[in-house]
Amino acid sequence: MTVPQPPEPIPGARLLFSLDPAVSHLNHGSFGAVPIGVQRAQQRLRDEMESNPLRFFTQGLVDRIAHTRRHLAGFLGADPDGSALVGNTTTAVAVVLQSLGLRAGDEVLSTDHGYGAVSLAIQRECRRTGAVSRVLPIPLAATDEQIVQTIRAGLRPGRTRLLVVDQLTSATARLFPTAAIVGVAREHGVPVLVDAAHAPGMLSTPVASVGADFWAGNLHKWGYAPRGTAVLAVAPQWRDRIEPLVVSWEQEAGFPARVEWQATLDYTAWLAAPAGLFTLRSLGVDRVREHNAALAAYGQRVVGDALGVPPAQLPDPGGPGVALRLIPLPAGTATTIDAARALQTRIGERLATEVAVMNWSGRGWLRLTGQVYNTADEYERLAVRLPALLAQR
Ligand SMILES: Cc1ncc(COP(=O)(O)O)c(C=O)c1O
Repeated sequence: MTVPQPPEPIPGARLLFSLDPAVSHLNHGSFGAVPIGVQRAQQRLRDEMESNPLRFFTQGLVDRIAHTRRHLAGFLGADPDGSALVGNTTTAVAVVLQSLGLRAGDEVLSTDHGYGAVSLAIQRECRRTGAVSRVLPIPLAATDEQIVQTIRAGLRPGRTRLLVVDQLTSATARLFPTAAIVGVAREHGVPVLVDAAHAPGMLSTPVASVGADFWAGNLHKWGYAPRGTAVLAVAPQWRDRIEPLVVSWEQEAGFPARVEWQATLDYTAWLAAPAGLFTLRSLGVDRVREHNAALAAYGQRVVGDALGVPPAQLPDPGGPGVALRLIPLPAGTATTIDAARALQTRIGERLATEVAVMNWSGRGWLRLTGQVYNTADEYERLAVRLPALLAQR
């Protein structure tokens, strides 16, 4: 089989970023990268804030936040009145968990593809309330139908108070059939929280079409927003029950303002987030999506070939548009979380290449991303040098 051709580069795109040119940045998924124009937009807002802090905070900031929220929600296909800006997906998950009023005997259901910090949050809320956390194992190669079936069989109506599923998983780069999962859960009367940390900017699925009770996604990954920008979308029946983590002056205003206003904070990331979407739109949202997904697929193939992984054994993301791809590492590599972290650092230091090394289901995986600032030769160089590094152990 021939390796697919990489996509045409997007001319000049690399120059929009301040990334170190001596490094290949093949892990946009973990912390994103903020375009220079967006960094400047945030700096201008900070300058404004520092020129007169009292005026910045007391005259119109709440309205500016609401205006920004409407803009971001519009892009995501979310209800602007049912969406709140929050600092990150982790915060959104915490807000939802502590608003549910879990009690002893209740259960929170999730899958073994879930994000580690989200699992920790579920465990802590269960410990605090006497509820139970149950995790459903789902094989990496499961079809959409099998995923929905497994979840359907795992629901315990009357006991399962929340199902948490990822729209696109972090550790396994797998697109979950979230709309179908939400449909099944709804039939059983189980609310669903969709962890969509990677969705904004990468997936074209409008939030409303997922139909979840709660949906949380980061703008600071694939939406080019400054870090600290995420959206929590909440279905109408839950909005009055959503409590902020920190009670502040907008408490009586209800959702979403009470969740957004968290006292004296630097809100400039949110206000600058539309500049991230402007960058994405200027490049062409669909063009960027197609480019990134095709480049990640190319990277998966060339690095997979170099490690001797047959194409059929390279995990398929399960749908179009996904710019994260997994490659299984040789047996015995990155078999613990610590070993995975150490290998990731070693690849960064020795090969000047930032990647994600995952430990999932007891084995090691390399996760590569594609972004407009990447070029095919960065994956090709990694493919040439990685086997020798892995052989060193
Ligand atoms: C699936 C998933 N959920 C949640 C998060 C947490 O995002 P944040 O650190 O912005 O809260 C991530 C981060 O990579 C993620 O991949």
